[in-house]
Amino acid sequence: MLKAEDFARRRRALLGALGRGCAAVVPASPVRVRSRDVDYPYRPDTNLLYLTGFAEPEAVAVLVPGRDEGEFVLFCRDRDPEREHWDGKRAGPEGAEKQYGADCAYPIGQLDEFMPKLLKGCDTVHYDLGNNPAFEARLGGWLKKLRDQSKERNKAPVQVAALDYYLHEMRLCKHSTELDCMRSSAALAVDAHKRAMRRTRPDMYEYQVEAEIIYRFKRNGATHSYPPIVASGANACILHYKENVSRMRDGDLLLVDAGCELEGYASDITRTWPVSGAYSAEQRAVYEIVLEAQRAAIDTMEPGVAILDPHHAAVGVITRGLKRIGLLEGKVSELVRDGAYREFFMHRTSHWLGMDVHDVGDYEAGGEPRRLEPGMCCTVEPGIYIAPDNSNAPKAFRGIGIRIEDDVAVTDSGHEVLTGALPKDPDEIEALVGSG
Ligand code: GLY
Ligand code: MN
Ligand code: MN
Repeated sequence: MLKAEDFARRRRALLGALGRGCAAVVPASPVRVRSRDVDYPYRPDTNLLYLTGFAEPEAVAVLVPGRDEGEFVLFCRDRDPEREHWDGKRAGPEGAEKQYGADCAYPIGQLDEFMPKLLKGCDTVHYDLGNNPAFEARLGGWLKKLRDQSKERNKAPVQVAALDYYLHEMRLCKHSTELDCMRSSAALAVDAHKRAMRRTRPDMYEYQVEAEIIYRFKRNGATHSYPPIVASGANACILHYKENVSRMRDGDLLLVDAGCELEGYASDITRTWPVSGAYSAEQRAVYEIVLEAQRAAIDTMEPGVAILDPHHAAVGVITRGLKRIGLLEGKVSELVRDGAYREFFMHRTSHWLGMDVHDVGDYEAGGEPRRLEPGMCCTVEPGIYIAPDNSNAPKAFRGIGIRIEDDVAVTDSGHEVLTGALPKDPDEIEALVGSG
């Protein structure tokens, strides 16, 4: 569980990185309408959550390094007994100061009046460019207001810059308190996958397996970190399948890609198991290639290794395996060089993982693939997908889609598989499926 001190430490780090003459402006996400007067469940902006823990809509955090009256200003909804009766409690400016550590807090209705004053004297305003056009237009309006006042003109900021560089770098390397959150999120997703494996039976519908997973998440105060993919048979060859409406047939494989968001941190796991509890010879042959590729990729992970190295390890194993089972022909080195494996393995092996499932952070530095550092977390998720209409593949292989995905944290000396408690050995999986 994160504490006020964790958020204060993050703000201090960002204030220090920005330095005097800069300001960071971090607005809340807008509420989005689902239909008519029903909204989507509110998901706060991750940057705002990371810096403040403040989860209400209609808020703006402003960080101004060296500001005498206080470096952390938070605008939020005013208290309003009538609205709170309908929509729930609000912290209000007083709560923003007392509970969230704001140096000064103001009602959000005063934003247009106060923002030009706050930004006056700064050279550069850092902001998450491009994600909130309505807010960006208002920001432009405040800057214009300052420039249009001849007395203030030389105190108006002269540039708006991306906030990503500092903030995303901070989010990329997880502090030990964040790693604890990542472990808890991973443990709950492991638990949910085990439940789903135990409950799987032929003739169930995919959404019924999804329900088992969501049940575990909700039961533990979490939500999904992305819509679960529950894909039986050839549906597994659709990488982002999420209809989850098919009936699962005896003999099908079931690919489940599901993770949770617990206390703001995401997990992301994929396992592929046989609906009947037993892999066919062809399914097992493909499964063992993906498993070997995934293990080889994870084995490479330690500080200093490039983020693409696990992918290269996976590509080598998958290419050799596809040749062994007759789906590729030729010299392995040439098949790798020419990308022949892409017909069957068309995505990357890893993405950053953190508060967002596809977390922020550059994949390159200085034109080179990023080197892993302790505290970075990513997924390792190779797969093989043999299209149902691939007439070059023997019939028994067509429509097989297999992915195996774990969450890995880089440590000082190697790595920690956060989701390592979930079986992936095919015999262990067969023993679990349908057992509960
Ligand atoms: N669940 C999305 C992904 O694995 O990247
Ligand atoms: Mn996934
Ligand atoms: Mn993933």
